[in-house]
Amino acid sequence: MRLEGKSVLLGVTGGIAAYKAPEIVRSLRQRGARVRVVLTQSALEFVTPLSLQTVSGEKVSTSLFDLGQESEIGHIQLADGADVVLIAPATANVIGKCAAGLADDLLTTILLATRAPVVVAPAMNVHMYENSLVQENLSRLAGRGWRIVEPDVGSLACGYEGLGRLPDPNVLLEEVSAALAPDDFARETVLITAGPTREPIDPVRFVSNRSSGKMGFALARAAARRGARVVLVTGPTSLADPRHVRTVRVETAEEMARVVRGEARAATVVIAAAAVADFRPSRPAKEKAPKKKGRSTLELEATPDVIATAVPRGPGRVVVGFAAETTDLIERARGKLERKALDLIVANDVTAAGAGFDVETNLVTLIDRAGTEALPLQGKDEVADAILDRVARLRTSRQRGQAPSTRPRVSRSAGRAGRRVQGRLQRR
Ligand code: CTP
Repeated sequence: MRLEGKSVLLGVTGGIAAYKAPEIVRSLRQRGARVRVVLTQSALEFVTPLSLQTVSGEKVSTSLFDLGQESEIGHIQLADGADVVLIAPATANVIGKCAAGLADDLLTTILLATRAPVVVAPAMNVHMYENSLVQENLSRLAGRGWRIVEPDVGSLACGYEGLGRLPDPNVLLEEVSAALAPDDFARETVLITAGPTREPIDPVRFVSNRSSGKMGFALARAAARRGARVVLVTGPTSLADPRHVRTVRVETAEEMARVVRGEARAATVVIAAAAVADFRPSRPAKEKAPKKKGRSTLELEATPDVIATAVPRGPGRVVVGFAAETTDLIERARGKLERKALDLIVANDVTAAGAGFDVETNLVTLIDRAGTEALPLQGKDEVADAILDRVARLRTSRQRGQAPSTRPRVSRSAGRAGRRVQGRLQRR
């Protein structure tokens, strides 16, 4: 998600991961955000104001009681000017102070004063992180609507292995984007298919295609960001499981159809972004087939059509397909919309510049029964949000035609963050 026009206040506290702060600032600025940095006194032991001032292009603040700093940008101005506050890394100490409502330095004072959403990325020794006091403090903050970013597992600066590493800047960016995103999918369960499928010829060879899975993964991230429960059923890709998404990895079209059939009933939105192989070898060999001289023939049979056969249609479910074409884009896509009984189809000409396989951008046209909308060439994250905007409109117009839902609306901050921390506490 782009962050143009957004102002992020980055609070850096005194843990060894503070050395990663300049990288976080750079990543936020690359997405278009304005970044103001506040360093605590202990953070100054690990990173200098000069380096953060250089990468952020903004004055760095370190003290509540420095007359010069306070007269230039006061702490209330910093608190009010932020669209989102990110604390990375967050030490056990700052987490404890925030949970107790203390305000004994610039950062904690801003955190009490701000109305902006807060994202906390704890990073510390594994035993400190697992300490029940730290966990209780985090639960308390999550209960107040703060987003807690679960640390990564790995080797820690203290020599231990375990949970406690500050996640990659991209993960932090995703959490900041989620804190800023609308909450319009909080009542939806979104099932997405992604990637190619692999149809075995023998134990070492297969038939597949060039899909990277990037569009489906971008959709999964966007739906999760907007508050949905998301299930991603993906064929083999090199992409990591998105956070806050239940990812199910499959190989073949048959497996994908089986998993989708099991998940579809609970889904209110189904989006088929997978490039499912249309054919599979009809008799895959049990052993590796030896090389033969001259021509050989591979007999193929049709695979199941996942979106057409494994997803029940009904008024409570919006079903979206993709049509990747090389000619007659709109006509072919419309044909698939009707033939597969879809509510919306995303048509893309894979031969167009910036719209093929394995690129970061896409050029698509959205087609439903109300009309056609050609979107500009843009990043796959932006395309994903545009598709979800259209799905949200379809859902709303459906719901207007139905009796109003009796399900209570989940409050975004407490509901989502609370769910997440509950999940974390249950896993241990
Ligand atoms: N699809 C599917 N299962 C298949 C084939 C396609 O679920 N076995 C879905 C795709 O995920 C996509 C839509 O159907 O959402 C259209 O896929 P596409 O490959 O463009 O169409 P096909 O039905 O395969 O037709 P053709 O290959 O003739 O273009």
